[in-house]
Amino acid sequence: MDEKHMIGGLAWNQQRTNSRSKLWIIIPSILSFLYILFRGWWSILPSTNETSFLKFNRERINWEPCGDFEASPLECSSIHVPMDQFDLQNSGNRTFTIPLVRMRGSNATQNLLLNPGGPGASGFQFLYNRGKQLKAVVGEGYHLLSFDPRGVNSSTPTASCYPDDRTRQKLAHVRSLDVLGDSPEVYAWAQNFFRACSDTMGEHAMYLNTPQTAADMNSILDALGQEDMIYWGFSYGSLLGQTYAGLFPERSKRVIIDGVVNQFEWYEGLFEAQSLIDTDTVLDGFFEECINAGADTCTLASLATSKEKLRNTVLSYIHMLQQQPIGVYINNSVYGLLDYEKVWYNGFLEALYKPSIWSTLADNMYKLIQGNATNAFLEYANKEIRDWRHEANEFITLNDGISGPEHWPQDRQTFLENITPLFNHSLFSPVQSKIYYMRQHWNIPKTHSYVPRKGVKTTHPMLILSTTYDPVCPLIAAWSANEAFEGSQVIEVKGYGHCSVALPSVCVAKYVREFLYGGKLPDTYTQCEVDSSYFHRLNKSRQLPAYKHFEDAEEARIHLAQVLLARNWDFALGK
Ligand SMILES: *[C@@H]1O[C@H](CO)[C@@H](O)[C@H](O)[C@H]1NC(C)=O
Ligand SMILES: *[C@@H]1O[C@H](CO)[C@@H](O)[C@H](O)[C@H]1NC(C)=O
Ligand SMILES: *[C@@H]1O[C@H](CO)[C@@H](O)[C@H](O)[C@H]1NC(C)=O
Ligand SMILES: *[C@@H]1O[C@H](CO)[C@@H](O)[C@H](O)[C@H]1NC(C)=O
Ligand SMILES: *[C@@H]1O[C@H](CO)[C@@H](O)[C@H](O)[C@H]1NC(C)=O
Ligand SMILES: *[C@@H]1O[C@H](CO)[C@@H](O)[C@H](O)[C@H]1NC(C)=O
Ligand SMILES: *[C@@H]1O[C@H](CO)[C@@H](O)[C@H](O)[C@H]1NC(C)=O
Repeated sequence: MDEKHMIGGLAWNQQRTNSRSKLWIIIPSILSFLYILFRGWWSILPSTNETSFLKFNRERINWEPCGDFEASPLECSSIHVPMDQFDLQNSGNRTFTIPLVRMRGSNATQNLLLNPGGPGASGFQFLYNRGKQLKAVVGEGYHLLSFDPRGVNSSTPTASCYPDDRTRQKLAHVRSLDVLGDSPEVYAWAQNFFRACSDTMGEHAMYLNTPQTAADMNSILDALGQEDMIYWGFSYGSLLGQTYAGLFPERSKRVIIDGVVNQFEWYEGLFEAQSLIDTDTVLDGFFEECINAGADTCTLASLATSKEKLRNTVLSYIHMLQQQPIGVYINNSVYGLLDYEKVWYNGFLEALYKPSIWSTLADNMYKLIQGNATNAFLEYANKEIRDWRHEANEFITLNDGISGPEHWPQDRQTFLENITPLFNHSLFSPVQSKIYYMRQHWNIPKTHSYVPRKGVKTTHPMLILSTTYDPVCPLIAAWSANEAFEGSQVIEVKGYGHCSVALPSVCVAKYVREFLYGGKLPDTYTQCEVDSSYFHRLNKSRQLPAYKHFEDAEEARIHLAQVLLARNWDFALGK
């Protein structure tokens, strides 16, 4: 995909919208307390190259072409939403812009809204990167529509704790993965972080939260002239979906949540204790499947005779890196250190999300343990876990949840004693360390009153998708959503990985289609088989072939799209 094109197209679009808008109008939404502000929908189209504007039946916004991705043309637009969706007077004339992007279905009248997670992942990037494959899964009967949620990526004002990118690069880094050793530093750092976020964002800071974003989705529907919410949210997108359905059950016609976050814990828990309960099971799954595959397909298997022994061999090697990182020299411009954190978090943790890269991880680890660190270094050492140039993730997480001095001891020792027990849940728990320090110091007033509850009756029951073992959104959270939403049904994809899309399964795609087009849910708890094994021989270009033969052409097409989705999905180690 062409990111420059995408951002360029977007900036161009917004600039033109802004320069033309002269008035505000206010129209009542379906809910009496919600009003949506639009600007510019009546824009006149005066000059020569305006033929690129698209206007569709019932829609109150204009679209323009913004890229052509492998013969799937995209169109872009944007809307303005009040800064405070729940109090228009309080908002005054202050807004967020919400950029929209859409891939049209050839036989569609309605839009399927998508959220890729994070919080903080860009819907734009998502549709550009994955839209085509998702469309193959969903079919031509829906337009796929995504958006940059308020504060995220190209939405303005962008959630930010730094005046510019240079300052971000200079000041954002702090070590936190050594839970005890790094504590004094991250404790001090988090106090500054909070002040910088507050200074940089000003008043808008308070309104960066999930309930506001859920209300923004109504503004999007209203702009489209669409009454019903039709939605598929992945990972954190499942939290957004649950929040939406909790706030607006009467509009929740086809809501799919996939890779579920426990909303009770997210909004009301001091700790996100549940989130990592299956992480180490996924790690064990990696070793088990490798041994099952055998050394022919998983090179690493040649190092041990059982999964337990393999696990020990690999973990003690990684432990050794904790004492002594390896210096890797490729040439005079590419060299450096390969240390424990890079292998563990950039290598292993990322792979737990995506079984499609297990073969590569096994291969890299095998070579590393045999003494050749080149591949591991090139793939894990310089990788930025997340290159988002904004702090929407932190603003949204911290504003949604239980944050600030009111809830957290301010003294570092007491605080550390409180959080230390949490780090026993998983070998990867230290990834959560930093956010707890941020919570401790985050002192932005809470402006939402959303309280998750059980037994919510949506207009149509919700579809809930999960893998059996998800490294960050465990199946047990899918059950909490099942309890919260009346008549909802869980479909489990029998495998490892983050969200149903981490694994190819034509079975789950069929259920998704039945739900989207016919509103059908299975009568009981349902499991879907996975259409691939975990380890494959890599060919010379280190790519994987399609896994399974399908007689039916449509099923074969779906399978191929799912293989690509599973391979290329970029979770950026968020949710
Ligand atoms: C918004 O309102 C404030 C005060 O009501 C005013 O000073 C400001 O100029 C307005 N801004 C815009 C862009 O209209
Ligand atoms: C288009 O949609 C209609 C109604 O949704 C359906 O009956 C028809 O079969 C679809 N056509 C194609 C070519 O998919
Ligand atoms: C938005 O996302 C694109 C693609 O990931 C990235 O290049 C760009 O820097 C992002 N912009 C901001 C302001 O985060
Ligand atoms: C150094 O190695 C990197 C990675 O293999 C390569 O891309 C780059 O061209 C090399 N640079 C020089 C100066 O050889
Ligand atoms: C190490 O691995 C790299 C990449 O696979 C390869 O190019 C290189 O020749 C290997 N080095 C040694 C000493 O085997
Ligand atoms: C956590 O692990 C440490 C060291 O293994 C142990 O001493 C401690 O009792 C554990 N705490 C909990 C709450 O399990
Ligand atoms: C490896 O497999 C991919 C996917 O099937 C294929 O496109 C590519 O040409 C293959 N490369 C080699 C060197 O065989």
